[in-house]
This record gives sequence, structure tokens and C-alpha cells, in this order.
Amino acid sequence: MYEKIIILSTILLTSLPSCFSSYPFDKGDAPFISSDVYHQNSHLHGHITRNSLTKNRHGYAPRSSPKAFNVNNFGAKANGNDDSQAFMKAWEAACSSTGIVYFVVPKNRNYILKPVKFSGPCKSSLIIFKIYGMIEAWKNPSDYKERRHWIVFENVTNLRVEGGGRIDGNGKIWWPNSCKINPQLPCLGAPTAVTFVECKNLRVSNIRLENAQQMHMTFQDCQNVKAFHLMVESPGNSPNTDGIHVSGTRNILIQDSIVRTGDDCISIVSGSENVRVTGITCGPGHGISIGSLGADNSEAYVSNVVVNKATLIGTTNGVRIKTWQGGHGMAKNIIFQDIIMKNVTNPIIINQDYCDRPEACPEQKSAVQVSNVLYKNIQGTSSRPIAVKFVCSKSIPCRGISMQNVKLVDQTQQDVSKASCSNVKLDTRGNVSPLCT
Ligand SMILES: *[C@@H]1O[C@H](CO)[C@@H](O)[C@H](O)[C@H]1NC(C)=O
Ligand SMILES: *[C@@H]1O[C@H](CO)[C@@H](O)[C@H](O)[C@H]1NC(C)=O
Repeated sequence: MYEKIIILSTILLTSLPSCFSSYPFDKGDAPFISSDVYHQNSHLHGHITRNSLTKNRHGYAPRSSPKAFNVNNFGAKANGNDDSQAFMKAWEAACSSTGIVYFVVPKNRNYILKPVKFSGPCKSSLIIFKIYGMIEAWKNPSDYKERRHWIVFENVTNLRVEGGGRIDGNGKIWWPNSCKINPQLPCLGAPTAVTFVECKNLRVSNIRLENAQQMHMTFQDCQNVKAFHLMVESPGNSPNTDGIHVSGTRNILIQDSIVRTGDDCISIVSGSENVRVTGITCGPGHGISIGSLGADNSEAYVSNVVVNKATLIGTTNGVRIKTWQGGHGMAKNIIFQDIIMKNVTNPIIINQDYCDRPEACPEQKSAVQVSNVLYKNIQGTSSRPIAVKFVCSKSIPCRGISMQNVKLVDQTQQDVSKASCSNVKLDTRGNVSPLCT
């Protein structure tokens, strides 16, 4: 049954129009108003009417031709001072303009921004936010008043962020002050580099995102998202630097990207539904995670997640589901398929006893139910003898866990690994190794 649901959602997601520019990144020297602008529009999840495009192509007077808003024309200097006012002015102009608009961050320049919020709703039918150059984070933490965000796109419908440029969070200013690095310090958190909140019909591609203050990119309460050809990079020892974080978001495809950070490669948390992750390379970092879910006795729902064609290299986890004791809700209909592990510490893990706090977490009866999880075609090596770990809840055991063609060997001994399983009934097909004993 759940396979059916997932197949349906997979069809739904894969049938979103696809559009690939040269991999891995745009060169960034394309003219920003190109003759294929109408052609490009047809890629946007179908929200520009075909009708108006056809008219334009056939030479009827277009209702509006695309307009470009270059941050330099709004006072951005790229001279080491703060350019956020100029960016905000350019955004206001772009957002209040009708038709298709380009927001342009020119190439070969380095713009420094304090925290900025690009808010909708906009009058434009489509905003193409072209980052050709580099955007760097302002270095003084005391200017981040709210502390949790740096660049925010909020409530924008029909938005594309692309261009082959670079976004650098200057995380090295923040990392030493993390309580994960220095336990004497209070856990205040640090900004997420790029956050999309309540955006609809969003495409993010061909961007290099590095050294985030904390998480690199978050999709929060968005719908219809396609993120691809992203390069996300921070040192392996940088604290809480998740690559791509998905929260409360429906219909999201994350594709053909490389994520090397100090925390989760991709993390998918409560309220997320129809999530497809494909063609991802992770490592270093903590691997691909669903959760954590159910912290502080909260209710959490995640469903219809497909992770396929992933390669994990030297990560602390491979594919992981983690829930806290005491939570409610469920994580269900999840497929991990066609995955290669290289020297991964915990290649396959479900942990319903997750506890990321200095003090111990007490045993509790309730748990986020984990059900219908398929692990299929997973191969490679683990850095420790236990390659498969199912730590399921005593009161709410894991249900419908299947493994098919799984072969994980110990990195050092090139030997059969072990599985450690509690409160789970496994359904296995094909060759599965290691098996629960
Ligand atoms: C988001 O945009 C819609 C219109 O598209 C508007 O009604 C709503 O108030 C906006 N929400 C926020 C939080 O700005
Ligand atoms: C495998 O991973 C472990 C720890 O995760 C590391 O110490 C070791 O050097 C790695 N081995 C190889 C061959 O990469």
C-alpha cells in the first residue's frame, strides 16, 4: 500500500518539468535577459500561462517584457561595506513590478550583507534572483538582532534563485562560540544562511553555499520546491552546519547536489510530506536524516520520503531516522534505495532513543511511530562492526521495516558486519547482510 502512495508521489514529483543547465554550475556570464526567457518560463511549474507565452513568441505585443533590477543601480558598492540597504531597495522595486523580473547580483563582485529579508507577496508573475557574483555575510554577530536568520525569502510565489554565484556565511566568526564547541558557553544558536519561508513554486539551483553560520539552507513551510545543482560546503568540524533542512514543506525535490558539512547532509523534520532526494553526495557530515522528531514531547509527522541514488562518504550516519522518547505522531512511508556507503559509521540506523542533551533523557512510554520503511539496494562499508542498528521503542515498536539487497561490510576487516536490533520485526528479501541475530 505505501509503495503505491510513494510511487504516486514519485510520479507527481518527477513529472514536475525539469530543466537542467550545464552541470555543475552556470558560468555566470550569460546575459541576464536572454531571448530564451520565455522558454525558461515554461519550466516554472506551470504557473505562467502558456497562452501569454505563445502570444509573445508569435510577436503580439507582450503584456510586459522582463525587467532587470541590478543591485548596483540601487547603490550596492561591493566595497566591503554593508550593501543590504541597496539589496532591499532593489527587491522592493522588483517585487512591486509586474510581469517577469530579474534581480541581478553582478559577477566578479563581492557584496556584504547584514541580515536581510526579501518578502512577498509580490506583484510580479516570476522573480528570477540571479546571483552571478558573491554574497558574503556581515561579520559582526551583534548586528544579527534576531540571531536565527541571515538571508530570508518569505512568502514569495514563483521564485527562482540561481546564477552560479556563491553565498558565504563567514561561519568561522560564529563556530567557536557554539556550545557544541565550547560547552562553557550558553546555547544561543546562530543564523541559518539562507531560509525560504512559506514560498510556493520555488526553484533553487546552481548556487554554491559555504561556511554557514549554522544551517546552510532551510525550506520552511514551502510548497512545490525544486532544489538542484547545489554545492554546499563547510569544514567537517563546524557545529550544527546542516546542509539542506526541510521543515513543514510539501512536494520537494532535492537533486544532483554535493553536501560536505559538519552536521546532517539533509535533514527532514516535522510537517514534511512528499520529499524526494536523489543524486546526492554527502560527506563529511552526519548523513541523511529524518528527524529528529518529537523533542520535548511534541507531535511530529513526516510521510512519503524517497531517498535514492545517494553516496555517503565518511559520514557518521548513512540513512537515519531519529526520534526522541515522549513524542507523538509518525514517520511513515519511507524508501531508502540505491545507496552507496563508504566508511560510514552507522550506515543504517533507526534510533527512537535519540537524546542530544548533556543530561540523560528519561524513559517514556510514548514515541513517534516509525512504520513502512524500505531499505533497498544498499551497499558499501561501515567504519564500525555494527552496520545496521534498529533501536526501536519498547511501547511503540517499529512496524513494516523491510530490507532488500543490502550488503554492508566492515571497512577494516573487509568482513561481514553485524546488526543490532531491538523492538523491530524485519521483513527481508534477496540478499541481506548483516541480518539481525
Ligand atoms: C503571504 O501572502 C499572502 C498573499 O499571497 C498574504 O495574504 C499573506 O498575508 C502573506 N503572509 C505573510 C505572513 O506575510
Ligand atoms: C574511516 O572512518 C574512520 C572514522 O570515521 C576514520 O578514522 C578512518 O580514517 C576512515 N578510513 C578511511 C580508509 O577512510
